[in-house]
Amino acid sequence: MHLKHLSLTNFRSLTRLDEELPRRAVVLVGQNAQGKTSVLEAVYFLSAFTSFQTNADRQMVNFHEAKNPLAVTRLVADYQTGRMKHRLEARLILEPSGANGQRLRKEILLDGVKRQMNDVIGHFKAVIFAPQMSQIIEGGPEERRRYLNLALSQAVPTYAQDLGDYSQALTQRNALLKALNESKGNSDQLEVWDEALSKVGARIIHRRIQAVQEIERFASRIHHELTRGAEVLRFAYEPAYDPLPKPNGQLGLKIDTAIDRSSIEPRDIQDGFLARLKQIRGEEIARGVTTIGPHRDDLRFVINKADVSDYGSRGQVRTTLLAIKLAEVEWMKERSGEYPVILLDEVMAELDSSRRADLLGYTSPERQVLFTTTDLSLFSAGFKDDAEIWNVKSGTVTRMPKSNS
Ligand SMILES: Nc1ncnc2c1ncn2[C@@H]1O[C@H](COP(=O)(O)OP(=O)(O)O)[C@@H](O)[C@H]1O
Ligand SMILES: [Mg+2]
Repeated sequence: MHLKHLSLTNFRSLTRLDEELPRRAVVLVGQNAQGKTSVLEAVYFLSAFTSFQTNADRQMVNFHEAKNPLAVTRLVADYQTGRMKHRLEARLILEPSGANGQRLRKEILLDGVKRQMNDVIGHFKAVIFAPQMSQIIEGGPEERRRYLNLALSQAVPTYAQDLGDYSQALTQRNALLKALNESKGNSDQLEVWDEALSKVGARIIHRRIQAVQEIERFASRIHHELTRGAEVLRFAYEPAYDPLPKPNGQLGLKIDTAIDRSSIEPRDIQDGFLARLKQIRGEEIARGVTTIGPHRDDLRFVINKADVSDYGSRGQVRTTLLAIKLAEVEWMKERSGEYPVILLDEVMAELDSSRRADLLGYTSPERQVLFTTTDLSLFSAGFKDDAEIWNVKSGTVTRMPKSNS
């Protein structure tokens, strides 16, 4: 994947950006709060149609522009995948709605044609690393599910659609459980929602099983290299409905025990999930909510048998995050035959010099990387000769002349 041209209008503080990108690397340099991360956020948005840092799309609309009754933010990427050239455009349109409200509408156009988001998600692929993403490890399960969903939505066809369908079935089922809890409605009505939930839920679980296992394979190797062989990283999926029959006494299972669920067929997951929903029906009516399924899944990161979320040092959390992100890059390459665009926000400052050198050596014509930094001296002279340097100041990007870099 090669991002060739990026054009932004009213995206956060970047009121106007229009730049060609080289095949290999760009370093965005500038003081804090100038708009560097926003550039990466914009590129990432075009791959996932959501921000990596907020669920509220309107936050990305430039403040000043948003004061207008009609405000439009535009992101346009020209990119090449294989031999094909494409143009992807995303529009965030804030428009008047109701008495004095405003609502936000998203439009996606691929090669000039309006398309459904779920059909185009992942057409342009990008992976982002940002320091605040250590929340994936340190935060709650919803952070980890969001991470997993974003990665799978880009790389696995129809996953995004399945997630949408699941969430709809879940909402309906929860509403019915709540009504039943208040002695309204008929519990036979649950049949149809149990069917829907287990059908699409099984597909999601099956894909998560495969994906986590594939990503883990890359992540442990990368992590091993990053730590020079000192640590072993495990990345494990913890499904809330676990299709694997639990042997007696499994509660005391050791944290580093690998559980292989990869040979379980989707049909068996579906049947098991459905049966389990029936089994716990009484309990779920009593609680008025769906208690098992992909919406309650979690992930776990383990280094040398200790949970990184609980016991990891700051450095270990960072290294784990970097390993997982670089693993995601390799995983996408394996799945799609092509590298995603790689976005690395403030990654250099936290690495020691030999790991910095590793990371700079990692960029290549196949791996296009956008770095941000406040300190250009962290990049070697040889690297800077090959890269483009963009100065970012108050939302304006200026290309640095080659001779100065
Ligand atoms: N919607 C917005 N409209 C205008 N400016 C914004 C918006 N959202 C954030 N900003 C501004 O962008 C700046 C932060 O940009 P960021 O890309 O995080 O900077 P950097 O990565 O260079 O530190 C802050 O000054 C913030 O006030
Ligand atoms: Mg930043």
